[in-house]
Amino acid sequence: MVACRVCGEDIRPFMSFGQMPIANGFLKPDEFEGEYFFELAPAFCDSCKMFQIIEQPEAQAMFHENYAFFSSTSKFMQAHFKEFADQITEAFLHDQASPFVVELGSNDGIMLRNFAAGGTHHLGVEPSANVAEVARQNGVDTISTFFGEAAAKEIADQHGKASAILAANVMCHIPNIHDVARGVRALLADNGVFVFEDPYLGDMIEKTSYDQIYDEHVFIFSALSVSDAFARQGLELIDVQPQTTHGGSMRYTLAPRGSRTVSPAVTALFEKERSLGLHRPGTYDGFRENCEASRDQLMTLLNRLRDDGKRVVGYGATSKSTTTINYCGISPDHVEFISDTTPIKQGKSTPGAHIPVKPHDAFSQSPPDYALLFAWNHQREIMANELEYTDAGGKWITYVPKVEIFP
Ligand code: TMP
Ligand code: ZN
Repeated sequence: MVACRVCGEDIRPFMSFGQMPIANGFLKPDEFEGEYFFELAPAFCDSCKMFQIIEQPEAQAMFHENYAFFSSTSKFMQAHFKEFADQITEAFLHDQASPFVVELGSNDGIMLRNFAAGGTHHLGVEPSANVAEVARQNGVDTISTFFGEAAAKEIADQHGKASAILAANVMCHIPNIHDVARGVRALLADNGVFVFEDPYLGDMIEKTSYDQIYDEHVFIFSALSVSDAFARQGLELIDVQPQTTHGGSMRYTLAPRGSRTVSPAVTALFEKERSLGLHRPGTYDGFRENCEASRDQLMTLLNRLRDDGKRVVGYGATSKSTTTINYCGISPDHVEFISDTTPIKQGKSTPGAHIPVKPHDAFSQSPPDYALLFAWNHQREIMANELEYTDAGGKWITYVPKVEIFP
């Protein structure tokens, strides 16, 4: 038993995915020997309703000068963050004389460059030095540090209070949620807003997309758990807005308690989450059974294709795929290589299972019988780009929401 990271109550994992490597820890053969593993085991806190993993590697082992995840690899994501920035400007900044926007975990500047382009005072806070440097090259003011109460006070001293603090796919990475919330309180203006989005627990449960669970994602949030966790530091959940990104996300808007009216969408989502059973431990026993069934179906299919001598290639060496590959037991016997457009991943092997990662040319020049869609969250963009493969009879395999071959 361990203590819940939010409320301190005793919690115990409802399942284990086994020993897992760092999800973005792509590596060369001479690094296989010292590869780091930890036990990936999720738990649900019946008290504060937070879904969390009980063991997480040190932050420095995940976010460093060789961080392999660059946000701007997807055109769809670029459009998404432009819309996000426009919405913030329209809703919260347009009537302010000199707004200041801070983004936590700003990666390569995919969101903030929209503010930089309009001359808005902004600051990115990004601990992974390599992606932070790319952001600076793109004209986005960025400091390379971990955000918490101490960093927040320094930023406030230097730049003044923030009109808006934003974060996308970042809050769920940070285990000390109270330190971040205190930092947000210290940096946010009295009439400011804190807006963040992350993969949504409701989607994960409905789609059995267990691959959202990996080292970086210490929490999978719901409106119920976000509301409870941030209320402890005086922040109130005032709006929620579902997003299609990352296979189903939720955007949460918070503000100092009592400073703004709470949208009816918040109460409606609380009710929906209760009707889905997200507040009940038994729901997670059902989720575990669904994970096991999904794994068994995928491996039955991949074993059959291997025995039939079919060529299967992975598409997208996503962080999420590290969980799928290592939990299911997918090996280089099943998947010849994985095609990925991110240069830093190419020529390396995937964490744990050590499947080679190759540039997209390797896929297009020698199309396989089946493409295993590890980047299932980018399905629409990828299908549009791969008409030639599909029209020539190439097949796709997905496993979210169910194991399936298409077309
Ligand atoms: P994500 O699901 O965490 O956004 O990661 C997507 C990964 O998939 C990233 O490594 C880039 C890769 N990718 C491709 O190789 N081709 C594509 O068309 C897309 C959209 C992503
Ligand atoms: Zn708790």
